[in-house]
Amino acid sequence: MRMRTKSWAKPELAACSYYIPEPEALRGNWAEKFGEKRPVHLDLGCGKCLFLAETAEKHREINYVGIDLSYDILGVGRRNIQSVFGEEQPDNVLLCYYNIEKLPRLFLPEDKIERLYINFCNPWPAAKHHKRRLTHTRQLEGYFSFLKPGGEIWFKTDNDDLYLATKRYFTEAGLELFFDTQDLHAEQGVENILTEHEIMFSAQGIKTKALRARKA
Ligand SMILES: C[S@@+](CC[C@H](N)C(=O)[O-])C[C@H]1O[C@@H](n2cnc3c(N)ncnc32)[C@H](O)[C@@H]1O
Repeated sequence: MRMRTKSWAKPELAACSYYIPEPEALRGNWAEKFGEKRPVHLDLGCGKCLFLAETAEKHREINYVGIDLSYDILGVGRRNIQSVFGEEQPDNVLLCYYNIEKLPRLFLPEDKIERLYINFCNPWPAAKHHKRRLTHTRQLEGYFSFLKPGGEIWFKTDNDDLYLATKRYFTEAGLELFFDTQDLHAEQGVENILTEHEIMFSAQGIKTKALRARKA
């Protein structure tokens, strides 16, 4: 369902110290933009940022870039980040509005991206749209232009077809799969921070499928 327009979203983002209005200007220099040099992880399609906020608060040793293609959703995401961080302005989070299909225009190998999170992306069920899936082999090859050797892709979905197809896309792209489950919440001892879609689908009894893979 489409989110109702939020007139406050753009002004609040514009006033936010960690919102990047012109992200392409940081290409090759993302590490410098963060106050401290730390490994950089991307949350692709960060949505309302429940996952990003909690993950960044828990892992202060990592820098995170949250990327989404909706100002309204990013505006809600910013508010969710602030409710986790309180008065504090996080120094390990940057947010930007950008089309993930164009990511090679945003990051270079010098940006040393160590991990991509792709959580509950659109399954694009019609065969003619499969290439738009954020985990499609064509998209993975784009991510490889900036993902570090040994860098990881962590993927979660509610959708069985997308889970199976993504496993195939990972193999086709030469990724080394090191974690694979059809019921993430039943796994013992595995760190998992919930996303807003994961909360919604779990409440409907739908299991979270997950894959984690490494670039050779
Ligand atoms: C189904 S939501 C998932 C949100 C969140 N990751 C979660 O797990 O709850 C997918 C998100 O990806 C964003 N998105 C879809 N295609 C995108 C694209 N090409 N570039 C950037 N964001 C995109 C949407 O705006 C939406 O917020």
